[in-house]
Amino acid sequence: MIQTDLHDCHLRPWLHTDKPELITLANNRKIWRNLTDLFPHPYTEADADFWIPFASHTGASCHLAIVHRGRLAGGIGIIAGEGNARFTGNFGYWLGEPCWGQGIASAAARAMVDHAFTQLQFERLEGAVFEWNPASMRVLEKAGFSREGVLRKSVFKDGQLIDSVMYARVRSG
Ligand SMILES: CC(C)(COP(=O)(O)OP(=O)(O)OC[C@H]1O[C@@H](n2cnc3c(N)ncnc32)[C@H](O)[C@@H]1OP(=O)(O)O)[C@@H](O)C(=O)NCCC(=O)NCCS
Repeated sequence: MIQTDLHDCHLRPWLHTDKPELITLANNRKIWRNLTDLFPHPYTEADADFWIPFASHTGASCHLAIVHRGRLAGGIGIIAGEGNARFTGNFGYWLGEPCWGQGIASAAARAMVDHAFTQLQFERLEGAVFEWNPASMRVLEKAGFSREGVLRKSVFKDGQLIDSVMYARVRSG
């Protein structure tokens, strides 16, 4: 278990018992719209059945559940790159809508960064945020990420070709 700096909020491995809450929270177009297409919509029972065991056997990657006040709040993860990008991790997270606006994502991101740089092999964490998601840009800034640049027309999502903004944090800076 990884404690965050927010009261009663921690990260832990995904559990089979998360399934009903996972489906309820994740089945939300507003969440899907801000994530890669690997995150399904609608989010079905079959998707949860795939995700929970998958998230427990990740090799160099790391996927954890975010728990707030004893209940599942969302997910956070780092997908390890391959080959000469193997020390780079793609950083991502989502929260169920009832949990938004309480500082939970920011606390989870800070705790995950600390875990990645103290317990895992990553030298660089990066995330490309869709242009319409300033809340997530703020979350990354509050976790010490720097804005590296705009990836013009890099994403096709929800029927639109949009920019994304690359944020990154490296171990030593
Ligand atoms: C983005 C998301 C993770 C934010 O979670 P959250 O727990 O509400 O975020 P926090 O409360 O920790 O912080 C949000 C910050 O963004 C700010 N913010 C919110 N809406 C904003 C907006 N429209 N413009 C600018 N800043 C905004 C908040 O004020 C807060 O900053 P502050 O603490 O300095 O006031 C959540 O909305 C979510 O899961 N969205 C769908 C999935 C997603 O976008 N994942 C990230 C993909 S890159």
